[in-house]
Amino acid sequence: MKKNNITRRKFIAASSAIAGGLIVNPILSNASPADKKNRIAIVGTGSRALGMWSKDVAQTYNDKVEYVGLCDVNPGRLETFKKLAGFNCPTFTDFEKMMKEVKPDTLVVTTVDATHHEFIIRGMELGANIITEKPMTTDEQKCEAILQAEKKTGKKVIVTFNYRYSPHRAKIYELLRSGEIGDLTSVDFHWYLDTSHGADYFRRWHRLREKSGSLWVHKASHHFDLLNWWVESDPSEVYASGSLQFYGKNNPFRSTNCRPCPHKGQCKFYFDVMTRKQYVDLYVNNEQHDGYLRDGCVFKEDVNIFDKMAATIKYANGVQVAYSLTTYSPYEGYRIAFNGTKGRIDAWIEESNPIEEKNYDEIMVTKNFGTREFIRVPHGTSGHGGGDRLLKDKIFAGVTDDPLHQAANIRDGAFAILVGVAARKSCDSGNMVKISDLTTLKPGETRQFAS
Ligand SMILES: NC(=O)c1ccc[n+]([C@@H]2O[C@H](COP(=O)([O-])OP(=O)(O)OC[C@H]3O[C@@H](n4cnc5c(N)ncnc54)[C@H](O)[C@@H]3O)[C@@H](O)[C@H]2O)c1
Repeated sequence: MKKNNITRRKFIAASSAIAGGLIVNPILSNASPADKKNRIAIVGTGSRALGMWSKDVAQTYNDKVEYVGLCDVNPGRLETFKKLAGFNCPTFTDFEKMMKEVKPDTLVVTTVDATHHEFIIRGMELGANIITEKPMTTDEQKCEAILQAEKKTGKKVIVTFNYRYSPHRAKIYELLRSGEIGDLTSVDFHWYLDTSHGADYFRRWHRLREKSGSLWVHKASHHFDLLNWWVESDPSEVYASGSLQFYGKNNPFRSTNCRPCPHKGQCKFYFDVMTRKQYVDLYVNNEQHDGYLRDGCVFKEDVNIFDKMAATIKYANGVQVAYSLTTYSPYEGYRIAFNGTKGRIDAWIEESNPIEEKNYDEIMVTKNFGTREFIRVPHGTSGHGGGDRLLKDKIFAGVTDDPLHQAANIRDGAFAILVGVAARKSCDSGNMVKISDLTTLKPGETRQFAS
């Protein structure tokens, strides 16, 4: 047998276009004349809206957008957000009132996941195009209602899948399309959340499946979207298992939250929220309005989501995937391998590697009976591996070129969550779940690109 050789190492910028693609940007082309700014409102004024969809967008794209309204059920957080974002637009605790008074062109939905559908649907009915954070929604009924509302109103939904825009993942997409490993046949994909980031989901509303749809939907839908994009086909069948074996009921001691906890001294998961100014401003100082505790105990007995999960996913084009998610790993990152008829692509990321600080991520391409090549992709500079800035440029700066088909529409949003919903159902029933049984969306052998 021929031995694989490391033949060359090189830096590659991951932006070279491999196939044409243009998108009509529904946000910037929304009925407004070209010289009129897009009027944006936000519902859900928490951390994500503050970090991703407010101050930075207003400053970076100030010739294109203006903020006209903010809405949240927590009046204290709403006012704090307005101050921290430096906005002077009106605030509302009543969503209908905001929509009818300020009539935004675009509504940004950044509320708790299980409520997204209410605002996406009503927002479109009241005349706005929608930018929604992932997951688009948390179950199949809500998903169907969103699909129907988009058809009925003629408005558009953009789902902000920032993970697609990281240069490392874009390079993988290019390699897959270039035929380097022949026809793709299967994928091994394993994601590790560590005892800091992973644990944080068990502190907050995400620990309840009625709010987050479980991590199958809240977190893994990011990963399922990446798979749908890379495989370039629609998912058709899911078989999964999962359990709660580390957090929640599994510990001998617990409290409501960390601040008053008698076990502080011995708990590895003690989290001092008072050291995080933004969390104090947004959450601690506004607990009296809704009782929401940002430093909730990860061992609370009401945790009803899985903390370890595995799924087998079959695609309409025959590709099969072995996926897993672990939430209490000593380090954060993922490993992925694409198996093809002519070779294999391996890629991995370890966030904040304590041993080796690198400014690039690697991809290994190994040819059957041939050579091995390492490709280094420099890190992006904005959040989520550089993806956040590229995504915002596409939405707000009028970038219409989409050679890597990274733009995500309602169909992409739906297929990403439907894999998670199917996995959750499979865990509950012990049966394989067909995606075509969940909504009116039927999986296609090839992916329909956003247009
Ligand atoms: N793409 C990403 O990488 C990424 C990262 C973080 C969060 N997110 C998503 O962003 C969204 C917000 O997450 P977050 O971390 O900011 O959460 P958060 O809890 O900080 O903020 C959610 C806000 O929504 C408000 N809210 C809840 N129900 C509401 C209702 N019915 N009406 C009006 N307001 C309501 C809450 O009061 C809160 O202020 C979630 O959907 C999450 O999945 C995405």
